[in-house]
Amino acid sequence: MDLSGKAALVTGGSMGIGRAIALDLAANGADVALTYRRHADGAQAVLAAIQALDRRGLVIQADVASFAEAQCAVETVVKAFGRLDILVNNAGLNRDAVVWKMSEEQWDEVIATDLKGCFNYIHAAAPIFKEQGCGKIVTITSINGLRGKFGQSNYSAAKAGVIGLTKSVARELGRYNVNVNAVAPGLIETDMVRQAPQQVRDMALAEIVLGRLGTPEEVAYVVTFLCSDKARHITGEVIQVDGGQYI
Ligand SMILES: NC(=O)c1ccc[n+]([C@@H]2O[C@H](COP(=O)([O-])OP(=O)(O)OC[C@H]3O[C@@H](n4cnc5c(N)ncnc54)[C@H](OP(=O)(O)O)[C@@H]3O)[C@@H](O)[C@H]2O)c1
Repeated sequence: MDLSGKAALVTGGSMGIGRAIALDLAANGADVALTYRRHADGAQAVLAAIQALDRRGLVIQADVASFAEAQCAVETVVKAFGRLDILVNNAGLNRDAVVWKMSEEQWDEVIATDLKGCFNYIHAAAPIFKEQGCGKIVTITSINGLRGKFGQSNYSAAKAGVIGLTKSVARELGRYNVNVNAVAPGLIETDMVRQAPQQVRDMALAEIVLGRLGTPEEVAYVVTFLCSDKARHITGEVIQVDGGQYI
């Protein structure tokens, strides 16, 4: 994939899938800015790895749930790189509980981060993409947004909302030559998953027809493809990267 001359922004790039996406975009030629909220060390390590690839990098601390911070982050990237071509909405978290035990805080935090966070960045980047007549937006949803998941009503609702957001924005921005797609991972070996109870991991593993968890890099490869010119006639799609976990 040739992304040379492109400028990308990845939310939640300090670890896990976002880290792999930031590094793969840079390995394919893009300058990459990443946001994070808590893991400054992780974000700085990703920045160093981007720079080691001879690309420009940028780290921004910003809570994706903040509308104002999203606007500011996008402005900072455009100021630093002189342009923005690619937006990857990756930042997310889960706060699992069965619905009758779920607190209002658990519901609100997941919706604010996983769903509103995507809106915040798309809202900030859309005028730039519209004006320049091109752009790529990829949102990271989940197979649990397609099928629902026991103990994840907040997360599944947010990720289903992300799919609706993606498809609607694809319709709105298509006339401006902007591709908007979602990637839906299954269980991927990251901190988010390492913290899950062993029983939950084992049950998920039993569902995966390829017989193993995915890697962050395997999600990143698909994101990079969607951000490339080779995917120029794909928009409004949800591509599962799940080893057949949800067929
Ligand atoms: N792992 C899986 O099996 C899996 C499956 C399906 C979908 N996904 C989705 O893939 C995405 C990445 O997941 P992951 O497994 O890589 O998670 P992870 O290892 O926990 O990393 C999450 C990233 O999001 C950032 N983040 C979280 N809340 C944030 C906030 N409020 N503002 C800004 N950044 C925030 C974190 O930043 P800091 O820690 O630096 O604050 C971190 O960089 C998420 O959207 C997740 O829902 C994951």
